[in-house]
Amino acid sequence: MAKAQIGIIGGSGLYQMPELTDVEEVRVETPFGDPSDAFIIGTLEGVRVAFLPRHGRGHRILPTELPFRANIYALKLLGVERILSASAVGSLQERYAPLDMVIPDQFFDRTRARARESTFFGDGIVAHISFAHPVCSDLGDVLEESCRAVGVNVHRGGTYLCMEGPAFSTKAESNVYRAWGMDVIGMTNLQEAKLAREAEICYATLALVTDYDCWHESHDVVTVETVVENLNKNVRHAQLVMREAVKRLQGRPRACECGSALKNAIFTAPELWP
Ligand code: ADE
Repeated sequence: MAKAQIGIIGGSGLYQMPELTDVEEVRVETPFGDPSDAFIIGTLEGVRVAFLPRHGRGHRILPTELPFRANIYALKLLGVERILSASAVGSLQERYAPLDMVIPDQFFDRTRARARESTFFGDGIVAHISFAHPVCSDLGDVLEESCRAVGVNVHRGGTYLCMEGPAFSTKAESNVYRAWGMDVIGMTNLQEAKLAREAEICYATLALVTDYDCWHESHDVVTVETVVENLNKNVRHAQLVMREAVKRLQGRPRACECGSALKNAIFTAPELWP
């Protein structure tokens, strides 16, 4: 089986990492079915990196339909210890302008109960991981340093509200999320962060702001065209930030507790857990 140290999950717009060398395409089978696509495994800054286009090549998979468990399980099988996620988001606050980047440190779940896969546990294995701090702050530090090195306008911290979609929010919803103090809105990252924590993999998000959702009186309401247009403007920056982050992670020890998240978490049938 091919191996990689770092996983990059690319969202809408980020479908490839052009600087990868010694590239192989690897399909991984998991007990949870097929991942979104084959992994593109290659070398970046001397590090083996596994790239996965979240929605599949050709953008075929809706947020609700994403095989979250297969994606994270496959990265674990490949030996990945850190996941960098790139995702398009809408801004819920004036200070996050389109084309800015945000590194959220919190998630808020507004997805439909039971609509999505969000745990590896159940069926006899009872485990409750700590999820108060859902993002690896060490990985967040590296993303922030990398954004600054590349020269993009970056905001550290903030809450990512994860909605179900696929329709964007109504104006009433958008205003309520603002009143709740939410910062950015997207459709995919919460389940990934939760499953990565269960799999004891570090996880952090580089959120690419594409629009002001629909609350802003002097901006048009979000459309797919706006999202795609701004993503296309920003994709090169996202690739450069990811490359810089991989370079900074090379040889950096894991100075966090993500790798031992299950130490006190499983309390029945641990013999069933590998
Ligand atoms: N992704 C990009 N913009 C978004 C928005 N406004 N709402 C939800 N997901 C998004």
